[in-house]
Amino acid sequence: MIALLKMEDLDQVEEIEKSSFVNPWNRQYLAKEISDNEIGEIYADVEDGVVIAYGDIWYMFENCDLTRIAVREEYRHKGYGQKMMKHLISMAKGRGCEFMHLEVNVNNADAIGLYERNGFETMRTRRNYYENGDDAFDMLRILVEPEARKILAIESSCDETACAVIDEDLNVYSSVVTSQIDVHARFGGVIPEVASRMHVEQISTIVRSAVDQAHIGINDISAIAYTIGPGLIGSLHVGAIAAKSLAFFYDKPLIGVHHLKGHIFINEMIRPLQYPLMALVVSGGHTELVYIENDQSFKIIGTTLDDAIGEAYDKVARVMNEAYPGGPVIDRLARQGRPHYQLPTPKVEGLDFSFSGLKNAVLQLVKKEESAGNPIDKNDLAYAFQEVALHSLIKKTKMALEQYPCKMLVLAGGVAANSRLRELMNENFTDIDLLLPPLKYCTDNALMIGCAAVHYLKNKKFVELDAASEPSMSIEY
Ligand code: KG4
Ligand code: ZN
Repeated sequence: MIALLKMEDLDQVEEIEKSSFVNPWNRQYLAKEISDNEIGEIYADVEDGVVIAYGDIWYMFENCDLTRIAVREEYRHKGYGQKMMKHLISMAKGRGCEFMHLEVNVNNADAIGLYERNGFETMRTRRNYYENGDDAFDMLRILVEPEARKILAIESSCDETACAVIDEDLNVYSSVVTSQIDVHARFGGVIPEVASRMHVEQISTIVRSAVDQAHIGINDISAIAYTIGPGLIGSLHVGAIAAKSLAFFYDKPLIGVHHLKGHIFINEMIRPLQYPLMALVVSGGHTELVYIENDQSFKIIGTTLDDAIGEAYDKVARVMNEAYPGGPVIDRLARQGRPHYQLPTPKVEGLDFSFSGLKNAVLQLVKKEESAGNPIDKNDLAYAFQEVALHSLIKKTKMALEQYPCKMLVLAGGVAANSRLRELMNENFTDIDLLLPPLKYCTDNALMIGCAAVHYLKNKKFVELDAASEPSMSIEY
């Protein structure tokens, strides 16, 4: 989290200073900067007590000086510099500054790149600016700019009706979700017809509350986004009609978002994605390894040949007479389980997956034990199923990264909430920048559709009012 630097973290900052700058700031200077400098503020990004990055700004009415920005060595090139930069800019804007100014060593290509990506331009070169004779670029960014455009996003692909308002800088104005899970749980799974009816009942109120909670008028919205696919066709249609009506009536551009891109891009609420990027998408309908070269190029390099992993979780839970959705139940039971039952490891060539053999093996095992009069230990069965299923995900993801080296790995989709999968990801992918979505973002919501829509808006990818919803749309298009 980024907050004002605390005195107790000064030792760490002093250490980063020494390893980053020719003229490092010493402890006394830093301490004075915190306690005595009325125009200066140092902000630090601290995770688990470790100072990862910090930045110092001096505020002078409509001007401000960015006097320092540094990232701890082992955390460089992972987006922390960008995260800090974004924070500093928004702090300066918040204080009403119109200009941000800085000097940078002309030889520091990394820093210059970061500043240029954030809209800084070189005004002039200062000769012999540094003690060692190096020159400096004088750079400036104008902070007053047109407001970030706001998007109203709607999600209705399965059993959540949701609406959110978000802007291009990922500021969230509102996010409203209602789940139908309690109703579907009575039937042991999502009944498409029931889902569509419930979306129809909910959608207007949900959109209304999202707009109300955002404290905006519909005219403050620059575009309307909705999930165009994949999903249940009846459910998709409800969101599509709502979005199209708003777009038509208020004359706004319309964005048709791929649901799984939403699951991937919501990770940007944590930090910027780095490309090339590998996404392991695990949900109720999909199990895919997606190689992403940039925000417009998605390639499926591995997929399930039969059941999706979430579907397998749900079916196995049903065999054990447990409630829908089965994922969270199995996750919980498996935590008490021990190695006891043997289940076959799926054998599939290459980067593809298969879970139906495993699911059937669970069914056979239950039948066999029942006919032998042996009570099933649900904890142990959940454990056995989960270990085999999740290890196959890990194994294929490792293979994928060997074949397609990437800068970052993200986990996406409903099954990303699984505690054991998160543990295994953390254990197995220590040498790549790994991004796991916080639990609150794993289940379907409209914020994720908004996060993806930001990219569609920047790339001017709109759809027409007669666009068809696509229940089995591929992420590649
Ligand atoms: O992404 P999602 O909300 O809907 C789809 O787009 O499919 O994913 C729902 C799936 C369900 O199959 C559910 O059982 C599974 O995610 N799930 C879990 C967990 N929480 C949800 N699976 C395993 N462990 C969990 N903790
Ligand atoms: Zn989903």
